[in-house]
Amino acid sequence: MTITSMKELLQDATTKGYAVPCFNAINSDMIRGIVQAAEEEQSPVILCHAEIHLKYSTLEHLAPILLEEAKRARVPVSILLDHGKSFNAVIKAMHLGFNAIMFDGSEYEYEENVRRTSEVVRIASQLGVTVEGELGYVTRPKSGGAEGEDDDTIIDDTSLYTDPAQARNFVERTGVDALAVAFGTVHGIYLKEPQLDLDRLERIRQSAGVPLVMHGGSGLSQEDFAQSIDRGIAKINYYTGMALNVAERLKEHMARAEEKVFYHDLMMSSIAYFREDAANIMRSFRSNGKA
Ligand code: 13P
Repeated sequence: MTITSMKELLQDATTKGYAVPCFNAINSDMIRGIVQAAEEEQSPVILCHAEIHLKYSTLEHLAPILLEEAKRARVPVSILLDHGKSFNAVIKAMHLGFNAIMFDGSEYEYEENVRRTSEVVRIASQLGVTVEGELGYVTRPKSGGAEGEDDDTIIDDTSLYTDPAQARNFVERTGVDALAVAFGTVHGIYLKEPQLDLDRLERIRQSAGVPLVMHGGSGLSQEDFAQSIDRGIAKINYYTGMALNVAERLKEHMARAEEKVFYHDLMMSSIAYFREDAANIMRSFRSNGKA
């Protein structure tokens, strides 16, 4: 298949009531496991690489692998730069063939977020690249393992949640195709029981008029996913859970081994573990059978 527009994927998800899974895939083993899962589950999928993960793999290194997998896959695949913050990374990703950009201006005050996001949309729209913006701030606490710098107490700060009244203004002024929203999810491990503000999510949906995106998918329940999808979430980002689950299984694998362990055995097992984890997620997001 050819690489598929993320805007089209999110429209289909909105119409049919599921969320497209978006996985941060930081190397080729992850990419292969996730694409295998998508083919088995007949699920559309978004493969992404975050600017914060450039220390693990550069865009130049991953782009050809991502593009090749998207071309070869028997299901629709879109390729996204996740949490693009610098203009440098945004432009480079588009140049290398990423067909979607999540521009994260959430650390700026409102007008500056609007200004920067609009600029990205202006360029991306010329190239047919989908843009996701962020309004409100999905936190990244220091102890959550998601390489965050936020103080752990930030998770109680509901003033960072998306303001439903602002959502329409943001979408209209920036022209984004999708909106990442803050309503109680957190990047990384949940330091306490997640409490999603679903009423707020419903009000954001009514105001925004574009598909909504949940960041911080790891650690939520099946019920949380279902209720969020029912209130307009059409894409869910997921990483920490997979990174932890697969590492845990590799630890068990090593502990069980009675003879020498070769790296290539670990590599093949990793791909299988990534595949199983991704397939579970696809079923949780109801994207299985939708490709
Ligand atoms: P988690 O690592 O918490 O699943 O969040 C992933 C994410 O939102 C990437 O943008």
